[in-house]
Amino acid sequence: MTIGGFVRGYKFAYMLLAASLLDRRNRLNQIAYVNGAFVPLAEAKVSILDRGFLFADGIYEVSAVLDGKLVDNASHLARLERSVGEIALALPEPLSRIVEIQRELIARNQLENGLVYMEVTRGADVGRDFAFPKSGVKPTLVMFTSVKDIVNAPAAKAGIGVITVPDIRWTRRDIKSVALLAQVLAKQAAAEAGAGEAWMIEDGKVTEGGSSSAFILTQDDVLVTRQNSSAILPGCTRRAVVALAEERQLRVEERPFTIQEALAAKEAFITSASLFVQPVVSIDGKTVANGKPGPMAARLREIYIDFARATAV
Ligand code: PDD
Repeated sequence: MTIGGFVRGYKFAYMLLAASLLDRRNRLNQIAYVNGAFVPLAEAKVSILDRGFLFADGIYEVSAVLDGKLVDNASHLARLERSVGEIALALPEPLSRIVEIQRELIARNQLENGLVYMEVTRGADVGRDFAFPKSGVKPTLVMFTSVKDIVNAPAAKAGIGVITVPDIRWTRRDIKSVALLAQVLAKQAAAEAGAGEAWMIEDGKVTEGGSSSAFILTQDDVLVTRQNSSAILPGCTRRAVVALAEERQLRVEERPFTIQEALAAKEAFITSASLFVQPVVSIDGKTVANGKPGPMAARLREIYIDFARATAV
C-alpha cells in the first residue's frame, strides 16, 4: 500500500469512528420517559429489582411515527390493553395519558420519522419473589423514541432473505410480552447468516417472523397469512394489510403455510410497525420466485403507506 492510500484509509476509519461516536451521543441525548419524568436516555434508569428485568414480567408496544404523527396507534393501544389484561397487570396511567406521553416524547425529540417504544412492567418490589407483589408496588412505565426512515428503507426495495428456525417460544405468543430471548437468538442467527429476519417453524408450518408477521402470495394470487391464535402475535400491520387487501377484492386466506409453499409462491413478504411491508426474496438461501421483490408486495407497501399517512394522528 502507498503512503497516500494508507493516510486515506486511516482518515476514512477515523471519520467512521467519529460518526458512530456522534450517533451514540445523539441517541443518548434523546429524551426518554420513566415513571412520570422526562430525562435524557443516558439517565433513564429503573431498579435492578424491577420485575421486567428479573422475570420479563412486562408488556411492550412499538408504534411507528410518520411526519411526526403516530401510525395506527389505536390498534397498538388496544393490543397493549389486551396484553396487560391477559397477565393481570394494571396500567399505571390511563390510555389517554399514555398517548399524551407518546406525543410529548415525539415533540421533545422533534421526531419526524421513527418509532416510539413503550414498556410497562409489574414494577419493583423489595426483593425477588415470583408471585405478584402484595400491594403498593406501582407498575413501571417507560418510553423512548428512535429515528428511522421506514418509508425509504433500502431493504424495502431490495428485499430481504429470511432463515428458518424452530419456534421455541412459550404458547401465549398473542401476548406482547418482553420475554424475547427466543426471538433474540432467532434474529441473531439471521444476522449471522446475512438474513434480515428469521421465520419460526412449528409442526412444519411458519408461525411468524422474529419481530414481524409472515405472508405469501400463491401462484393463483391468494394472500396467505396465519390466522390469529395464541401461536402468533396479532400484528397491527398484518391486520391493516389484510383489511386493505380485502377492500381491494384481493383473496386472503388466513391459515398456516409451509416453507415448501412459500418457496413455490409468487411472492413472500413480512409486515410490522417498524418496517411496514417488506419483500422476502429468499428463504434459507433458496430464492422465492425469481429472487426479486414482487409487484404485490410493492403495491401493498404503497397502499399501507398511503393508509398510514392518511390515518396517522
Ligand atoms: N414487533 N410478530 C412478532 C413476534 C412481533 O414482535 C411483531 C412486532 C409483529 C408485528 O406486529 P406489528 O405489526 O403490530 O408491529 C409480529 C415489534 C415491531 C418489535 O418487537 O420491535
